[in-house]
Amino acid sequence: MLQPRYQFLFLVVGLLLLPTGSTTSQKKIILDNDWNPTAFIALLLPLYYNYTVLGLASDTANSWALQTGLHALASLEIASLSSCIPVYKGSDYPVMQTAYTFQNYELLYGELPWKGVFAKENTTNEKLGNDPTSGDPRRVAKEAFTTKGYYGYPNVSFAEGSAAELCIFSAGALTNVALAVRLDPEFAKNTAGLYIMGGYVDRFLDQATGDVLQADLVSDINFIVDPEVTKITLTADFPNITLVANSANGVIPDQAFLDELVAVNENPLSRLVRANQPTYLPFWDETAAAVMVDREAVVLDEVEVYVDVDTSYHSPFYGYIRPYQAALMPPGLRKVKYINAVNNTKVTEMIKTIVQFPPKSCAELKGRGVDSQD
Ligand SMILES: *[C@@H]1O[C@H](CO)[C@@H](O)[C@H](O)[C@H]1NC(C)=O
Ligand SMILES: *[C@@H]1O[C@H](CO)[C@@H](O)[C@H](O)[C@H]1NC(C)=O
Ligand SMILES: *[C@@H]1O[C@H](CO)[C@@H](O)[C@H](O)[C@H]1NC(C)=O
Ligand SMILES: *[C@@H]1O[C@H](CO)[C@@H](O)[C@H](O)[C@H]1NC(C)=O
Ligand SMILES: *[C@@H]1O[C@H](CO)[C@@H](O)[C@H](O)[C@H]1NC(C)=O
Repeated sequence: MLQPRYQFLFLVVGLLLLPTGSTTSQKKIILDNDWNPTAFIALLLPLYYNYTVLGLASDTANSWALQTGLHALASLEIASLSSCIPVYKGSDYPVMQTAYTFQNYELLYGELPWKGVFAKENTTNEKLGNDPTSGDPRRVAKEAFTTKGYYGYPNVSFAEGSAAELCIFSAGALTNVALAVRLDPEFAKNTAGLYIMGGYVDRFLDQATGDVLQADLVSDINFIVDPEVTKITLTADFPNITLVANSANGVIPDQAFLDELVAVNENPLSRLVRANQPTYLPFWDETAAAVMVDREAVVLDEVEVYVDVDTSYHSPFYGYIRPYQAALMPPGLRKVKYINAVNNTKVTEMIKTIVQFPPKSCAELKGRGVDSQD
């Protein structure tokens, strides 16, 4: 459907905007994510800001790419947007990391608070409605759909072709994006940039006490799941790369927030979010998407820094970024834009608005001046 020079994007792994070839100034995007029942909020942001969404790609990070892609299909079906936004299943496996290597890492270097897809397989947990982890990437846990309020197993199908192929011809994600970078040397530089949720700096020394501060939600699972492709992506020639990591931890909904979504405008998506959004996890991906769609209003502090990614398996920092100053860095690195602080009040307002007033149909997207792909 797309040609390689298009524009893509990605998110959760990231988002990427591309220049459009048309005469309009409309931004086009492909969102690549480990989708879940409420992750579509990160899609509503660019829709609200009038981006043309060329498609969604799924990847393996919190669960396997098949299960996360089915969540994307289910969410679009509930939102009545299936006919204008295709979903592509991405690569099942990371390039190198496996459940065995991940679990060995934990034995050597300590447990990660968030293990994502490499948490041990637990059938009981899956029957209770949790997404599959470890084991066979091609199995599906239907209970993760059928036990959720105002949700369901999808009745629509994936678009033909894998996300990695799309990347080759047009779009991708971190595993998918890196495969595209390697397969098509023109890919990265022909985009309008890459936005990534990830890149934690995981430990700080408290300036006053010298204590080690280790935020307990900080395991950089998007990167750790596939360290080698992270390095490929962060050293590729995208016009620019934006990392939103620690600063994406600031907006955590409470019950009052969720209730207000429905009180202001009850609709299929506000009901779904109220029923299923955890009140203990930050809006990570949504914050990264908010930076993308309205950087000026959202970002309070950003820096430019050279980063490498630790790809040594025998390292406690396997999969983590390593910032450098230019004078001391190894060759082959590039600068990224690192978001240090965002306006949490603004991000909260944005999320409320888009969930309260989502597009009701593909026709409405057209009405907003957004091209439909159908
Ligand atoms: C999106 O487009 C509509 C219609 O063209 C316009 O009214 C609206 O202000 C735009 N939204 C944003 C956030 O720019
Ligand atoms: C598997 O999941 C169940 C339900 O969440 C939990 O009670 C049990 O402790 C888990 N088993 C292991 C080995 O972690
Ligand atoms: C698919 O159809 C079944 C049967 O009508 C329904 O129960 C389920 O909720 C639907 N799935 C979605 C995502 O709407
Ligand atoms: C990234 O590069 C693109 C293409 O040159 C440009 O349009 C865009 O404004 C840049 N974004 C940022 C955040 O610098
Ligand atoms: C943060 O956003 C809120 C709401 O839009 C605004 O009132 C406030 O001035 C912003 N704060 C800063 C520091 O920009």
